[in-house]
Amino acid sequence: MEGFWKDDIELANDLATVRERMQEVVDNSHGFIRKLLQTQVNSGGKMLRPALVLLSSRLGTNPRKEQVLKIASILEMIHIASLIHDDILDMALTRRGVATLYAKVGAKQAVLAGDYLLSKAISMIGSNEDNGVKASAVANAFSRLCESELDQDAAQNDFFISKSTYIRRIAGKTAALFALCCYSGAATADASEHQQYLMHRFGYAFGMSFQVQDDILDYVGNEQDLGKQTGRDLQCGIPTLPLIFALEEERRRGPKRPLAALLTDRGSHLNNKDTAKAVSYVIQLGGIERATAVSDMYRNRALRDLQSVDNAEVAAKLKALFVKLINRPS
Ligand code: IPE
Ligand code: IPE
Ligand code: MG
Ligand code: MG
Repeated sequence: MEGFWKDDIELANDLATVRERMQEVVDNSHGFIRKLLQTQVNSGGKMLRPALVLLSSRLGTNPRKEQVLKIASILEMIHIASLIHDDILDMALTRRGVATLYAKVGAKQAVLAGDYLLSKAISMIGSNEDNGVKASAVANAFSRLCESELDQDAAQNDFFISKSTYIRRIAGKTAALFALCCYSGAATADASEHQQYLMHRFGYAFGMSFQVQDDILDYVGNEQDLGKQTGRDLQCGIPTLPLIFALEEERRRGPKRPLAALLTDRGSHLNNKDTAKAVSYVIQLGGIERATAVSDMYRNRALRDLQSVDNAEVAAKLKALFVKLINRPS
């Protein structure tokens, strides 16, 4: 993580403070929970969400550093809790290069540890209410995340979904939280209402582009670099954009549909060989290119919003973030 933000010393220092704040929450928890959560808050995530809160806060007229650091910590804790839960749903064994809590202690304890972290995050919001970010806004982003994860899980192994269903899901599970991060920073630091609105829109488009990219990396990324397993979406019965486009292309080409047949026959228990085969069909059918074009479209939308951001330095930093993410190691 440290390397990711090293070109902005102030931001890197603030993120170190965010990490300390999260560490304090863990240190003050019951011994048993402390042991479970220790590695979770310390295992080198990119810290994107708190970084967006902090960068957006630079658009304000009133720095309110303490409150900004607090909301940044709260939103990263909510993100970590959602990952702990997501790894249970996906039965994922590694994340950020280390074993997931699910792999280490099983679903029962992992779900409770995630709940605990979430409740600690929510309990920190209260006093922030008069400073721009309401508890209801945080609750709303998290409930959208849950709705979308539930919707995705309830339709597990239904690979033949529309693009609009996919877009709705990722808007809820990822973009809503990014939008809130960008809005929160601007609102807490008293940026103008127009700038708050712009940052909300920017965060939404950023989150959409980011999730599509993550879904592409699940097909073509490198496990070592990403620190998490690839091919999981297919194996967990989760259709994402590369697959949706590939199936569309296969339908367009004619009646011979080996990818659709593979998923229909074996979709609920794809082994590693089936997965590799499905991945190669998706690549051959141009699913990656078309999904990349959608990620680029959202990125361009986000970049357009940056043109109206008041502070050229902040806009440049946010723009540079896209370049970093495209070349990111994890
Ligand atoms: C992972 O988010 C979940 C998605 C929304 C794709 P990140 O890639 O930001 O996870 P960390 O925090 O860096 O591990
Ligand atoms: C993001 O989706 C999960 C959340 C928003 C909680 P993914 O399931 O694609 O995230 P990874 O790939 O496991 O990090
Ligand atoms: Mg997952
Ligand atoms: Mg993923």
